[in-house]
Amino acid sequence: MSLLLKRGKVFLDNKFVETSILIENNMISKIDNELNNAENIIDCSNKHILPGLIDIHVHFRDFGQEEKEDWISGSKAALSGGITTVLDMPNNNEPITTIEKLKLKEKLVSEKSLINFGLYIAITEHNIEEINKTDLKYVKLYYGETTGEINPGKVEKIFKNLNKDILIVAHAEENDIIKLNKKNYSIDEINFHSLIRDNKAEYTAVNFLIELAEKYGNRLHITHVSTKESMLLIKQAKNKGLKITCDSCPHYLFLDNSMYNKIGNKAKVNPSLKSKEDRKALWEFLINGDIDCICSDHAPHTFEEKSQEYNKCPSGFSSVELSVPLMLSSVNKGKIKLEQFVKLMSVNPAKIFGLKNKGEIKEGFEANLTIIDLEKEGIIKGKKMISKSKWTPFEGFKTKGKGVMTFVNGTKK
Ligand code: DOR
Ligand code: ZN
Repeated sequence: MSLLLKRGKVFLDNKFVETSILIENNMISKIDNELNNAENIIDCSNKHILPGLIDIHVHFRDFGQEEKEDWISGSKAALSGGITTVLDMPNNNEPITTIEKLKLKEKLVSEKSLINFGLYIAITEHNIEEINKTDLKYVKLYYGETTGEINPGKVEKIFKNLNKDILIVAHAEENDIIKLNKKNYSIDEINFHSLIRDNKAEYTAVNFLIELAEKYGNRLHITHVSTKESMLLIKQAKNKGLKITCDSCPHYLFLDNSMYNKIGNKAKVNPSLKSKEDRKALWEFLINGDIDCICSDHAPHTFEEKSQEYNKCPSGFSSVELSVPLMLSSVNKGKIKLEQFVKLMSVNPAKIFGLKNKGEIKEGFEANLTIIDLEKEGIIKGKKMISKSKWTPFEGFKTKGKGVMTFVNGTKK
């Protein structure tokens, strides 16, 4: 079977070139403006063809939490947003802390997933040696309590003993500060969420982790950065030449702590939504190229769970299908260039996480592609979401720009 994607604006060598792509045997067999013949032809004029978009931070649940999401609904939601590869977090009902559990999860996910996937193992002081014997490229470090009970134990031991080519992807919030804040604000309610999980809790953790990475020479990626102060520390570390990278998420760029008044516990997420100033600062860091990737931190919970009182309400919300239209709207508004969007959501994730055949459109690569229509407008509505979790803090947001077609390993989805 051959398929020709005819005359699109194709992302080649970091810029868009009008050309055509021939897909044969699931591979990109040729890229050439003169291509005309194939069994099937799709006219791509006025569309952009991007390397398949990658979301490096999702929670697709399943395994006893199917009411929140499973790999079929999760991967369908991802595809509808234009995402062709996800990296899934290890805080499942039964946390993924051993290679045996990871292998079992891999087997089950490969039977269900409609998209490419990678799975994190949670690193603890007890599984370092086991992980060192594998060819795993990245691990998740829960430095700070959040959903799921994964306690890493002695964190310095992890940085010291883990193979230095393995990327440590860290949730960074300092537990002691969170505990102290909880004590100080004796009122437990959503308006205090950003005061309990405050800027200091994040940047103190980021600072500590960067110090360890510097001391022991690790590759460190801080995920879901939410504050200006953390970004300043990360920028400093990069300038020093340390192997530090980071990401942020649409909710820290488009929402802030004023959401608590509007939607209450539905806006509860870890790290918390911060101030307008943080939001503004994150945009500046993003525009300057200091933020390496955008991910969704898709963390679905049921409406019933999210309707509970503050202490019982779990953190997070569903967003894997929303990050692309939200970020493309910013491209349309001129905040970032489309080329930068591709770097944030495909090129850099593939490079940082060592994902083969991804992040680039190249002859000989498996065809993982996202076709976008920059003109397509929409309004975000929870009820219309593909995710099982049919509500969103982005309700009513107007978007312009959307993924309209995806190819996963050569197959049109
Ligand atoms: O808000 C969050 N939800 N933050 C996390 O760190 C975990 C996630 C989840 O799994 O629900
Ligand atoms: Zn997460």
